[in-house]
Amino acid sequence: MSSREERSEEAARQGPVPRTMGQQFGRRSWAEPWRIKMVEPLRVIDREARERALREAGYNTFLLRSDDVYIDLLTDSGTSAMSDRQWAGMMLGDEAYAGSRNFYSLEEAVRKHYGYRHVVPTHQGRGAEHLISTACIQPGQLVPGNMYFTTTRLHQELAGGRFVDVVIDEAHDPESLHPFKGDVDLEKLESLILREGADRIAYFSLAGTVNMSGGQPVSMANVKALRALCDRHGIRLLLDATRMFENAFFIQEREEGYANRSIAEILREFCGYTDGAWMSAKKDNLVNIGGWLAVDDDSLFEDLRNRVVIYEGLHTYGGLAGRDMEAIAVGIEEGIQDDQIRARIGQVRYLGDLLTRWEIPIVQPVGGHAIFLDARRFYPHLDQTLFPSQTLAAEIYLDSGIRSMERGIVSAGRDPETGDHRRPRLELTRLTIPRRVYTQAHMDVVAESVKAVYDARASTRGLRMVYEPKYLRFFQALFEPL
Ligand code: F0G
Repeated sequence: MSSREERSEEAARQGPVPRTMGQQFGRRSWAEPWRIKMVEPLRVIDREARERALREAGYNTFLLRSDDVYIDLLTDSGTSAMSDRQWAGMMLGDEAYAGSRNFYSLEEAVRKHYGYRHVVPTHQGRGAEHLISTACIQPGQLVPGNMYFTTTRLHQELAGGRFVDVVIDEAHDPESLHPFKGDVDLEKLESLILREGADRIAYFSLAGTVNMSGGQPVSMANVKALRALCDRHGIRLLLDATRMFENAFFIQEREEGYANRSIAEILREFCGYTDGAWMSAKKDNLVNIGGWLAVDDDSLFEDLRNRVVIYEGLHTYGGLAGRDMEAIAVGIEEGIQDDQIRARIGQVRYLGDLLTRWEIPIVQPVGGHAIFLDARRFYPHLDQTLFPSQTLAAEIYLDSGIRSMERGIVSAGRDPETGDHRRPRLELTRLTIPRRVYTQAHMDVVAESVKAVYDARASTRGLRMVYEPKYLRFFQALFEPL
């Protein structure tokens, strides 16, 4: 029997994948709220060519040429398909150096949906992180947050701060089914404040969703309580809003009292508990480049507006072309629609459901932007210093030309004080789903490749790092197979 026949028999036994959230009975499927108008051909190179490409890339998927990749699940950042309306908006770019009309469209969209008064554009998220970190951190201060993100923590450290993780313990456990694994542990935070003194805290760094724990959300109840705690101690609360549309979806789905509220309403309420936000518009805002900062406080805004002209560009373009700002403004309106987010997260879940049915170890519950394979359980015979997640990303590429990303010990980097590897409990390989780009058939192909790599796991050996850059080493490190 062909493997296709076997697969369809197997599928018949197990029944349809439940892709209609909350409707497990019968088949009433949702579908993407768009159709395809322009396509980009894909090509897959043969096994021998993949072996050569991976060797030349030092077994680091960041160093592959995209032409050598078949399905690209490296990241959901800047990889979205833009709509006809966004492209039409790009034609309305006002490329004036100062006061471009597109800046005012962006400002209006951010004010309307995120609710902050002042907006500063930046070239992407880390440009915004740089400005907010240097504006708000005094050397020696602490920055507590709900799990680190690579670029965010590095900018906090470069500004003289030290990041302190106060996320709930469940966030570090890939098997915990806690519905809000992005929540802050308020007791951990309060004891940090009491031990160190509120003056030593630069601000609270809150991310919704939490990328490194698997795209896990923060609940409304938690942000509300966090706001109250910050108020008691006079601490500013700043939000990494990069994937807040997705975070709002999980609140709508899981938190009592929000089932009948729109994503837009939930977002406004959530942001209302914070003092400001930074944003990589390359994710939720559906563009290929861009970012922004937004705050309520007048004097903080004045400072940020002054800093942006040093590093990014004038405060009405921040390193972006006018057309880019228009695309973000339109992207915000499109990205915040309930049906858009349901289809986006639905596609991620479709892939997660297949892998779960095949008993492949992934982070549960499935989060917003990606499937995170649990490389510790995938390769229990590999010590963390043999880079199991990096190895897994390499093996998936060799199997099918599908590109994923390491999110484990390589991404965690070294402790700046001791120089040792940081050893995160989570050793993950991320299959990140770009927005509006791939079809359900692509997801089937991905799942089947992961299954093939899983079936061959016992014979897999690890990697050795042969070159290590100083900052954000995962982007450029080189490896060799053992
Ligand atoms: N914050 C979060 C939560 C992110 O995921 C990213 C980027 C940034 C900030 C930085 O934004 O890339 O526009 O400078 N994450 C990408 C990823 C790179 O693949 O997860 P940026």
